[in-house]
Amino acid sequence: MSEEKPKYGWYVKNLILAFNIIGLFGLIVLIIGLNILGMLGVILSIIGIALMLLFLWPGIGLATMNIILSKENSEVRGMDILSKIQSPRVLDIGCGTGRTAIEIAKSLPKGGHLNGIDIYNSNAISGNSLATVNRNAELEGVSDKSTFQYGSATEIPFEDNKFNIVSLSSVLHEVHDYESKERAMKEIRRVLKPKGFLLIGEWNRYSWQLILYSGILYMVFRSRKYWDELIRKQGFTILNYENFGGYGLFTAQK
Ligand SMILES: C[S@@+](CC[C@H](N)C(=O)[O-])C[C@H]1O[C@@H](n2cnc3c(N)ncnc32)[C@H](O)[C@@H]1O
Repeated sequence: MSEEKPKYGWYVKNLILAFNIIGLFGLIVLIIGLNILGMLGVILSIIGIALMLLFLWPGIGLATMNIILSKENSEVRGMDILSKIQSPRVLDIGCGTGRTAIEIAKSLPKGGHLNGIDIYNSNAISGNSLATVNRNAELEGVSDKSTFQYGSATEIPFEDNKFNIVSLSSVLHEVHDYESKERAMKEIRRVLKPKGFLLIGEWNRYSWQLILYSGILYMVFRSRKYWDELIRKQGFTILNYENFGGYGLFTAQK
């Protein structure tokens, strides 16, 4: 009998499929172009190369990133602050299928508790749902110290001053416009206790690793400076910034 394993899903799986299909179409156009003499051949070759650069590059890059992530032992980053707090209450916003949230729950000291909220967008992660994250928590043995529910970053379903730590791993770039991001930051500030910690992980738009993985899609992400300013604007003090191969982790305090 096979043992059931947690399913963390693939990030942007549908997008990866669509990009690879269009990119492979570009490869066919290139091959046809190379076999036709004259101007038409040149034009088809250029279109083929352009389609491959725009679509096949991120298609293959993001698929590779997902494969690497699924093989990697996830490590919880920036959570050394947990040891400084007695019975910490942690909120993970945009918990998805629980890849980061469950690791945080595992590293909680005695008496600590993790709450996870998400709008469970299935285009962001395959199989993204409340049922999936609950099942993953069960399989990872952290059900007793974690609670997951539906909730948006811009309208956090908790009272003021409840959490010692709020964390967001690769979530804020998905909160569309700048006003909504500011609203989310105000909500985070509201639910954090005085001197509470904020951890924000985001890909840095200008890192070569992000460009290698996502090609033209690097534009979806923002620069380190952008996040730095957004965090400071809400009155947080930035304590630390750590770069994990293009993925930056800000630690800030209320
Ligand atoms: C790239 S995934 C990251 C998931 C998870 N943090 C992890 O480390 O695997 C982004 C997640 O943010 C969620 N999300 C997007 N906008 C949100 C919002 N306004 N409020 C809460 N979650 C949101 C998506 O549904 C998705 O699960």
